[in-house]
Amino acid sequence: MLVETKTANLEDLKRMAAEAAIMYVRDGQVVGLGTGSTARYVVLALGERVKAGLAIKGVATSRETAELARRSGIPLLETEDAWAIDVDIDGADQVDPQINLVKGGGGALLKEKIVAAAARQVIIVVDHTKRVPCLGNPFPLPVEVIPFGWGSTARQLDDLGLKPVLRERNGQIFRTEAGHYILDLHIGRIENPAELEIRLNVIPGVVETGLFVGRTDLLIVGTPGGVEVQQGVRQ
Ligand code: A5P
Repeated sequence: MLVETKTANLEDLKRMAAEAAIMYVRDGQVVGLGTGSTARYVVLALGERVKAGLAIKGVATSRETAELARRSGIPLLETEDAWAIDVDIDGADQVDPQINLVKGGGGALLKEKIVAAAARQVIIVVDHTKRVPCLGNPFPLPVEVIPFGWGSTARQLDDLGLKPVLRERNGQIFRTEAGHYILDLHIGRIENPAELEIRLNVIPGVVETGLFVGRTDLLIVGTPGGVEVQQGVRQ
């Protein structure tokens, strides 16, 4: 019973953050639509505004989001296109005090990073439980890898002490939308996310990491005391 109450509260906080974020969306804009349970509230709230006359176009970061956007009446741009995205709104698994993020709990990190990089403004929406003093433990860092030779890629990560675990779902290897695998790195504290991101990206077979360093313009946090907004520094 207590768990149910807590869950309901968290959902309210996610929705609060999402509804605050969509106030930044203007008529005529192209909007990046994130993935996950918090981004879902963004899509639902934007859908309501579209029904009320807001003219926007969306770029979805996953099939799941694309489907929800279509059902909500949000027109989508083709995915294989050169978009100019005005604002991208997405969730995160962890947020540190400098607004560096870990993302990819849902496995959509590659598309999420491509869309964030293509956006003029990136807004991250979370509930307050996502705030951590330091990225890392207990949340593993997702790394998307090419299936070809994934065991060798994993061994290189293991040699760096990063404890990779191949992600599975229902007893099957989890496949990202691009058909890749995910290695979840069970790292302790990520003291220097920028340096780790570079180290990971030079390993052959690594497609992308779930570290989002210096990619956020605005963080919107749903807390029991209300919505908090923190300005980021995009690098
Ligand atoms: C999807 O791959 C992730 O990056 C999500 O953005 C992240 O997991 C946040 O999801 P929730 O809002 O469901 O916690």
